[in-house]
Amino acid sequence: MEEELISIKNSAIPLILDAKEEKELEELKLQFLGRNGKLTLALKKITKVPPEKRKEFGMLANEVKEALEEAILNQAKTLKGSVKEKIREKIDVTNPGIKPPLGHLHLVTQAIDEITDIFEKIGFERVRYPEVEWDWYSFEALNFPKNHPARDDWETFFIKEEVHPKYGPMILTPHTSSGQIREMQRRKPPIRMLNIAKTYRRQSDISHVPMFHQFEGLVIDKDIAITHLKGTLDYFVKSFFGENRKSRIRPYHFQFTEPSFEVDVSCGVCNGKGCKVCKSGWLELGGAGMVHPNVLKAGGIDPQEYTGFAFGFGPERCMMMKEGLELDDLRLIYSNKLEFLEQF
Ligand code: DAH
Repeated sequence: MEEELISIKNSAIPLILDAKEEKELEELKLQFLGRNGKLTLALKKITKVPPEKRKEFGMLANEVKEALEEAILNQAKTLKGSVKEKIREKIDVTNPGIKPPLGHLHLVTQAIDEITDIFEKIGFERVRYPEVEWDWYSFEALNFPKNHPARDDWETFFIKEEVHPKYGPMILTPHTSSGQIREMQRRKPPIRMLNIAKTYRRQSDISHVPMFHQFEGLVIDKDIAITHLKGTLDYFVKSFFGENRKSRIRPYHFQFTEPSFEVDVSCGVCNGKGCKVCKSGWLELGGAGMVHPNVLKAGGIDPQEYTGFAFGFGPERCMMMKEGLELDDLRLIYSNKLEFLEQF
């Protein structure tokens, strides 16, 4: 029976080395290694080998199998090489080339990079703080009393962890405003922070994704006033959306700013006159305001000496407003649909 194995090997190898086409090679593979191939059938006879000789037989069988597989693989490579050579001979150098597909950064990453560049030009430093954060940093230090109903607006994800006596439950950051307190604890004013991070809320439908991004600006120094906020917003709006765009602030309410505003950008289609896209002439960008004295205190800064402004917007929203993108389902942004992603 061992002779049979050796004779299989001796007859197969020359045939393999003689194969002129891939198809021929495939056939040989089937003939020897296929389910009813010669070697496969020979191997089945192992049950007839006396038990004390089985190990030896098995080893030899493996050797033969590996030798055939290797010969087939090598011959396949050789054949491919010669096909390439033939193609090369026939190549028409005047034909246009075939471009390999090229990837690019995700559209949200592109927006984040652009926003970072814009703010770095006026001295904002990009920072990163924990995404898994204590309730205290996201709410309490931002002037939300315990159990305040406004907390519900943030649809928070809670982590199963022991509740900390001072910092409370552990959560996923529902907004980047927690970075304000972290920044104030990290260094003394003057502060010019840009915290861009992932944020999480318990929501998923055509206009919400459970993970999205925010960029939070914070400026603290002596004599910072609303005019500084307005100037910074104008600068951002013109740099990101275009020279002819304007910003506008409207009174609003947030726990952590006083006064608080909502920020709008003039519509790029009608230039603020009012049209089908915007209706009022303005598109909503996000929230802003003057940092509440209680927030400065929580960050260890004396509100008698320093004042500051803050704002928080979404890069996804900014990017969509800039591109004039109207998505039927926002979740498309984070899908793997190449037909969509390749457009940017
Ligand atoms: N954190 C707010 C939100 O998630 C946005 C915001 C509003 C940030 C006002 C600010 C601000 O810094 O001043 O909706």
